[in-house]
Amino acid sequence: MTAQLIDGKKVSEKCLNTIRERVAQRVAQGLRVPGLAVILVGDNPASAVYVRNKNMACEKVGFQSFSYHLPNETTEDELLSLIKKLNENAAVDGILVQLPLPPHLDSQKILEKINPDKDVDGFHPYNMGRLSQRMPLMRPCTPKGIMTLLKEYNIDVKGKKVTIVGASNIVGRPMALEMLLAGATPTVCHRFTYDLDKEVAAADIVVAAVGKPKLIKGEWLKEGAIVVDVGINRLENGTLCGDVDFDVAVERAAMITPVPGGVGPMTIASLLENTLEAAELRD
Ligand code: GUN
Repeated sequence: MTAQLIDGKKVSEKCLNTIRERVAQRVAQGLRVPGLAVILVGDNPASAVYVRNKNMACEKVGFQSFSYHLPNETTEDELLSLIKKLNENAAVDGILVQLPLPPHLDSQKILEKINPDKDVDGFHPYNMGRLSQRMPLMRPCTPKGIMTLLKEYNIDVKGKKVTIVGASNIVGRPMALEMLLAGATPTVCHRFTYDLDKEVAAADIVVAAVGKPKLIKGEWLKEGAIVVDVGINRLENGTLCGDVDFDVAVERAAMITPVPGGVGPMTIASLLENTLEAAELRD
């Protein structure tokens, strides 16, 4: 079997077009253009690329974007006072603090200071709590984007065994909550999991989100599995690869997301959807 590629770029373009139309309708009705504030602290080169992509996507759909690039040595007080200002700014519907933050900053403490109504990343404990209690409001962007992608490809997760590799706050944990909400049976694997290969082999759907190049071997997969690869790892030769060994996996899976061009663009589409929804809720 050679897997069908799941084209996140194409689905994301479709989402962006819908958002652009909804923004144009808002403008025609005399409503505000949605505003997204993106805060980058320090000079992590990967983060700088992600932030640039987010700002460019804002431009594409007609959002107002507010971009803040703060120096690495920014103090907690300085960052919190910027967040306070943005919480109070009526033109700002969404606030995103790009992670990871430099190690002297406590990201959990900082994320909790974002007004949950403007928490377009969905990382505030209020929004994570709502998702865990089946009342999602702002939903973390990568898991939300993955659910959109699966739906676009008519993949029904109900009743399926889903193995999620990685238990981060950003992807693994909210992914498990999304899958539960959709009626799947999720298993979350992490560094202490015994026999990762067996957990992967049992899965109808595998979501890999660990940030370790080619950790998941193609041979582990159940024949005909669906593979969602969240990893974006840069190899020494400069090329990008996922957390799944794509070359073997593509011969065993029924469907697979490529890296790049799979999950990455969907994260941005979800971010813009969340920002538009935040604006609509504040109207
Ligand atoms: N770093 C990696 N992924 C994300 C994300 O979805 N949001 C933020 N804010 N930072 C990230």
